[in-house]
Amino acid sequence: MTDAPAARDPATSLYDRAGGASGIAAIANRFYDLIEQEPEYAELRAMHAPDLLPIRVSLTEFLSAWLGGPRTWFEERPGRCIMSAHRAMDVTQRTAAQWVHAMSRALAENRIEPALGRQMQQAFLGMANGMIPR
Ligand code: HEM
Repeated sequence: MTDAPAARDPATSLYDRAGGASGIAAIANRFYDLIEQEPEYAELRAMHAPDLLPIRVSLTEFLSAWLGGPRTWFEERPGRCIMSAHRAMDVTQRTAAQWVHAMSRALAENRIEPALGRQMQQAFLGMANGMIPR
């Protein structure tokens, strides 16, 4: 017997570590709840359609595929590139920072494993910066 924590199964996907379907939906929903409710994200909110339901689903499906889960988002949008799509959206430094900030709160509030949360944050920061047209 040992008191050491069980080693994580290296085969466990990022998708599973992020909570699978329900965990990732909870992160995406909290993210858009914050954007809807908090005045500090007003500029980011104003860029989105009045009804956030479709994008709640879309972000959940995108993140699921991005983390190695079901590929529905990509299968339903053949050839679509998330970076190119955003470069046409007039993302600014301010709205990119709002996106990353709200997402970091959504990850923390959903108690994502800290090491995975940091990895995701780093990746989102890089993506968000790359979405600002230059
Ligand atoms: C850099 C800051 C970002 C801004 C300002 C931004 C803004 C937007 C806007 C305005 C839309 C269209 C929403 C609508 O029509 O209601 C959108 C769509 C979307 N965004 Fe972002 N976004 C950002 C970063 C990201 C990042 C980093 C990801 C992924 C990790 C992401 C994932 C998505 C997805 C999946 C969609 C839906 C696209 C589709 O279904 O075709 N966004 N975003």
